[in-house]
Amino acid sequence: MSEHRMTGVFVLSVTIVTVALFFMPDMANLLVNLYFVPIVASGYRWRVRGAIVSTIICLACYAVVLCLRTNLIATSPDELVQMLSIRTAILLFVGLVTSIASMEYQRILHRVRRYEMDTIAALARAIDAKDHYTHDHSGNVSAYSVLIAKQLGLPPEEVALIRFKGLMHDVGKIGIEERILNKPDRLTMDEFTRMKQHVMIGVDILKRVDGLDLLITGAHHHHERLDGTGYPEGLTAEQISLHDRILGIADAYDAMTADRPYRKALPQATALLELKRCAGIQFDRDLVYSFIDALDANGTLEDPALKEHGPSASMN
Ligand SMILES: [Fe+2]
Repeated sequence: MSEHRMTGVFVLSVTIVTVALFFMPDMANLLVNLYFVPIVASGYRWRVRGAIVSTIICLACYAVVLCLRTNLIATSPDELVQMLSIRTAILLFVGLVTSIASMEYQRILHRVRRYEMDTIAALARAIDAKDHYTHDHSGNVSAYSVLIAKQLGLPPEEVALIRFKGLMHDVGKIGIEERILNKPDRLTMDEFTRMKQHVMIGVDILKRVDGLDLLITGAHHHHERLDGTGYPEGLTAEQISLHDRILGIADAYDAMTADRPYRKALPQATALLELKRCAGIQFDRDLVYSFIDALDANGTLEDPALKEHGPSASMN
């Protein structure tokens, strides 16, 4: 829950309890316990500081009600101070316990996420190690995809997801024979058919790992093309998600600018011209130019003339 929304929930719950106390003085002893709700929520969200501040706010509200509704004060001042002290101690104790539990939960969560990231990084290294000609391909596709995502101004959590999708897009190559992956000549039809199976192998691997299911679409659809001639499903422009269209461009660009078994790496200008030539047919035209703009902003665009937009292709 966002900071603003949580603050809103806190204010609303404190207000409801305080108003209820004001209008239902007969139930004061019961209603005052409802202050546990905002205090526990604050302790969970804002830790120790949240528990202390929310306890002070709740007790201040309670004190205001006591002052306004004198019929609530059926005891002597000494007993009142004692009662408020006990309530303060109980509310603060619960808030602090919640905040400590929250910190421990966050620590465990952080460790689990780190294990997940380490697992993804190890898998990416395993993929790239198997394909001798695409050294660090997964890392490069991830980096280029992030570059495009940031150029588009996508929110940080989406950029993070695209980073991992890039790392895992070719995970299915783990199941492809090395003689095919590293064949120094062009693949035969049968070998290419086998190679294409890496997308479904990737889906099968990722769906078996809890927590990695969000990355499945990237592995599944990074070879789809806008004109519907891609694989495995032959999706068309509107059916391919933004993330998968980004991955497709990053994947193609890195493939062109890396040494292949049958040719040397293409210069950046040649690769970008090819992306532009296929913009609107194979690749999303706007994303191609976003990528070029991102390279320019990154200081790695070798020829600024490549930023010039060419004529639109028919598909886009
Ligand atoms: Fe692939």
